[in-house]
Amino acid sequence: MKKERILVTGGTGYIGSHTVVELQQAGYPVVIIDNLSNSDRAVLDGIEAITGIRPDFVEADCTDLEALKALFAKYPDIKGIINFAASKAVGESMQKPVLYYRNNLNTLMNLLDLMGPNGVKGIVFSSSCTVYGEPDVNPVTEQSPIKKATSPYGNTKQISEEIITDVINAGAPFKSVILRYFNPVGAHPSAMIGELPNGVPQNLVPYLTQAAMGIRAELSVFGNDYDTPDGSCIRDYIDVVDLAKAHVIAVERMLQDKSEEKIEIFNLGTGRGVSVLELIAAFERATGVKVPHKIVGRRAGDIEKVWANPARANQVLGWTANTPLDDTMRSAWAWQCKLREKGVM
Ligand code: UD1
Repeated sequence: MKKERILVTGGTGYIGSHTVVELQQAGYPVVIIDNLSNSDRAVLDGIEAITGIRPDFVEADCTDLEALKALFAKYPDIKGIINFAASKAVGESMQKPVLYYRNNLNTLMNLLDLMGPNGVKGIVFSSSCTVYGEPDVNPVTEQSPIKKATSPYGNTKQISEEIITDVINAGAPFKSVILRYFNPVGAHPSAMIGELPNGVPQNLVPYLTQAAMGIRAELSVFGNDYDTPDGSCIRDYIDVVDLAKAHVIAVERMLQDKSEEKIEIFNLGTGRGVSVLELIAAFERATGVKVPHKIVGRRAGDIEKVWANPARANQVLGWTANTPLDDTMRSAWAWQCKLREKGVM
């Protein structure tokens, strides 16, 4: 059966590019829209090298309604949207809140406005475990309380979930699947695509691989006095390819009318909490490469511990994040080595 076309916003970005690979390998024709604000056109080469197919690409900003209208006019066969296009740095969002609200919310509202008139059946939305804040109980389920956001970035995720809910409850002629990601890490095992460095990394794994490569003197471990077994913070690190695969299943549910509700929410995590120190040890074990690191003070605003209960995604989507952590660490390292080989970093 011929698969229907999927619009992937932010499709040259980190999670977007891995999802485009999985979509194309599952037979979906894709069109990417991306303004390349935090990605590179060369990502299209990586996607093509892996899949043998070059996805259609439109360089434009999703906050530009006219550009989106032109895209839908050019691709009247779009039936599903996966919306990755968003600004995602917590710290930057504190400095530039208007930028975050504008980018993340206007993008979503433009897409929601255009879906009905263009016959799009559903939208997959990238949300985050940030909506749970510091949970009272771990692991968190989709019913765990939503805590007040502590950054404009986190707030855009909460508001976006509310906007989608309101629009669908108002009778919009489409469905939505909201995916709450835990901590996506690693790269495609081919090392043809991965997370592109943008200045000094704020996230743990890109900083860790750069420290292992000698690009950074040492990794700072933010705190070892938390109420956790080894004192460092705990997260649920999920392989980016596992994460990408969940999007294909989510979009399929909407297009094939398999979803039970017009709006469905899923946690996407492994169900396994891993501390910062455990992650460093896993990397060293998996790659044989040492990570120079030192313990420093806590980072302001950090969550002590959060990990997912992914039972709903496991049962309803038939999806499990099953890549072993060591494999993920190896793919992260292979990607860092590829960046070095290409002279990027
Ligand atoms: C944060 C956000 C999340 C967002 C993500 C992507 C919160 C609660 N979470 O995740 O919503 O999607 O960023 O930007 O705001 N660490 C170090 N040294 C480093 C870097 C990190 O020890 O150099 C530690 C942190 O203290 C944390 C863990 O590594 O315990 C993971 O940090 P990071 O990769 O930044 O992700 P989150 O803070 O979980």
